[in-house]
Amino acid sequence: MTAPTLEAIRYARGSLQLLDQLKLPTSTVFIDVPDCDACWSAIKEMNVRGAPAIAIAAALALAVEAHKTRDALVASGAAAVATFVTQKMDHLCTSRPTAVNLGEAVIRLKALADASVADGLDAAAVVDAVVRACEKMLEDDVAANMAIGAHGADALCAAVASKAADPARAKPVGAALRVLTHCNTGSLATAGYGTALGVVRALRGRNLLEHVYCNETRPYNQGARLTAYEIAFEKMPGTLICDSAAAALMAKGKVDAVVVGADRVADNGDTANKIGTYNLAVSCAYHGVPFFVAAPSTTLDANTATGADIVIEDRPSTEVTHSLGTRVAAEGIDVWNPSFDVTPGSLIEGIITESGVARKNADGAFEIGKFIRDVI
Ligand code: MRU
Repeated sequence: MTAPTLEAIRYARGSLQLLDQLKLPTSTVFIDVPDCDACWSAIKEMNVRGAPAIAIAAALALAVEAHKTRDALVASGAAAVATFVTQKMDHLCTSRPTAVNLGEAVIRLKALADASVADGLDAAAVVDAVVRACEKMLEDDVAANMAIGAHGADALCAAVASKAADPARAKPVGAALRVLTHCNTGSLATAGYGTALGVVRALRGRNLLEHVYCNETRPYNQGARLTAYEIAFEKMPGTLICDSAAAALMAKGKVDAVVVGADRVADNGDTANKIGTYNLAVSCAYHGVPFFVAAPSTTLDANTATGADIVIEDRPSTEVTHSLGTRVAAEGIDVWNPSFDVTPGSLIEGIITESGVARKNADGAFEIGKFIRDVI
């Protein structure tokens, strides 16, 4: 069964529109993104968000600006085109620091432009190569997400079936699962289908989804505003819960598995994801619920040794002190509002990618660099 899905990114050569996720779920409004500066603001303000969607939007903004200024770029010469790519992408990269997908896209597109110049391509050919590479990111993402979904559905079913030590929690392969997820990792966070929510979609497509629970995801409410919207849009059997209700739901035996997305996975498997993810993983360990991360390989960062090396973005205090523009917290209180936390690799059962599932070695440690070399 293939259910209709939402789209966050509309692109045709020379034109980019982003679904304004700040207006969901009440209004569906697309904003025009005519250049890289407009895209920087859309990412910073979180009109577009979600690690893969941010990277794809940035690349497509570069493609749009390169297409629109093509004549001037071609006249300036091949080396100047490479400089243009570097300057635009370096600036876009300053918009949000934690998700590695954007940084990875920046490195890749700059390297492509530099290599094209080194290979002796003329300016027009360098522009064309860069634009095509940006467009390919959009095309490749949905296929990668569907592969993540397939690997993830297999992995969750197998993990739940293997809970022989706890027969009350084990379900045979072929039994439908109750899955809990956090933040928004669906069509709205990607080019389509989604990562962790893609796993949920894949289970549903196999008639193996009994129920999906989504955390509201305080303070920005990506779960309540966006994931609940996707679940309702596709009429999945789903329930929205407060973040603080997750452990109680597990204690009632109502969660077979948890799957979340990621913004950056360090070499040892430590995973930065939306704040509250770590709480969930701790609750899973206590209740014996398998805890999975689902992310494209562009989210794996073997150059970052551990979670301690991941830069965590702090968001404005008003996200916590205010609700829909009205102050709800006491005046004068200090606020700590990290956008992400780091879940230790030790609490993660497997990291699901489009190429397969990374698992811990015999010593109980992830080796993401080795996984990239051997599997990706
Ligand atoms: O701050 P956001 O909304 O960009 O955070 C998004 C998340 O943390 C997602 O769970 C993660 O980026 C994975 S998106 C497929």
